[in-house]
Amino acid sequence: MIASRLSGFGISIFTEMSALAVETGAINLGQGFPDEDGPAAVLEAAQAAMRTGHNQYAPLPGVPTLRAAIAEHQKRFYGLEVEDVQVTMGATEAITAAILGLCEPDDEVLAFDPTYDSYGAAAKMTGARLVPVPLHPPDWRFDSNELRAAITPKTRAILVNSPHNPTGRVLTRAELEAIAAVVQEHDLIAITDEVYEHLVFDGLEHIPLATLPGMAGRTLTISSLGKTFSVTGWKVGWATGPASLVAGVRAAKQFMTFAGATPFQFAGAAALRMDDAWYAAFALELQTKRDHLCAGLREAGLAVSELQGTYFANADVGQDATEFARELPHRAGVVAIPTAVFSTRKGELGHYLRFAFCKRPAVIDRAARQLAALES
Ligand SMILES: Cc1ncc(COP(=O)(O)O)c(C=O)c1O
Repeated sequence: MIASRLSGFGISIFTEMSALAVETGAINLGQGFPDEDGPAAVLEAAQAAMRTGHNQYAPLPGVPTLRAAIAEHQKRFYGLEVEDVQVTMGATEAITAAILGLCEPDDEVLAFDPTYDSYGAAAKMTGARLVPVPLHPPDWRFDSNELRAAITPKTRAILVNSPHNPTGRVLTRAELEAIAAVVQEHDLIAITDEVYEHLVFDGLEHIPLATLPGMAGRTLTISSLGKTFSVTGWKVGWATGPASLVAGVRAAKQFMTFAGATPFQFAGAAALRMDDAWYAAFALELQTKRDHLCAGLREAGLAVSELQGTYFANADVGQDATEFARELPHRAGVVAIPTAVFSTRKGELGHYLRFAFCKRPAVIDRAARQLAALES
């Protein structure tokens, strides 16, 4: 019964692997959500908003204090002066609304592959086509020639996710410059997914594409609260950028959800205004979890790709990763996801498994010990 636009997306491997985790009692490092609440002050801000009468529809663009906090955040961390801000139901709605609101049926949208799974569905709902540009393992870099070769007269936009799920790559300035050059040469729109913007390690820097010369006027920047503040269930996101691009998001969002949950928008303003030290400490905590999990994977004899950000590590398991993933809960009491589920290149990525390390330190350490003891 499912319309052809949405058939073929089916039940994902996440459902199968989560069921396997429950059945075997294994530690579920499949899905990328934290097992701890966000900062107490942020949770309290949501409750305070409910107690003080902020329980009705928010305005279409979002509550003014959150919109102001988002603009301040872009200025504080990146020096960006944003022209317009649209609050959305998570980054997911912002991405879908951006494609629906800015692309025509038959347009082509480039995205680095492997790709967060909502992008393809958003393109399909629009009647547009997602065109993959490969990130090659083990270091998950793209080849500028392949990026250029993917451009056709139908190319309308490029979706750029950095820090990148599922690979953990943080694009360098040189890579972003290569993307910016292509966008400007071919008069494209850039849509960025920066939901992991604060989860960057080893003193590296997240560079929004919009900060590159000539890009502010053609980049729609998308992010959300979920990952930075461990509140993935709140689904508060936003799109910022030139009024002409934000207008596309707003036009589609108006008839999708109109507004998101008002109390969480108020709490979002409090979250974004946390001080710099809080942001830095959170990234450092996550970096330690990365180090512990990756040490366990390496002790197990697996080749782990270098990763600079996000919640995710990828390991080459040296055999079919789907089979390996099905055995892993029994062999090591850990669940992970084959990286190839995010890709059109099932062969090239067929040996990679993605592990999420956004769990409590004790859980990560137990998973690392169990993996380290894995018998080959
Ligand atoms: C790359 C990427 N974009 C977007 C999202 C979803 O963001 P939100 O929960 O704000 O819709 C995720 C969540 O896993 C993600 O990994």
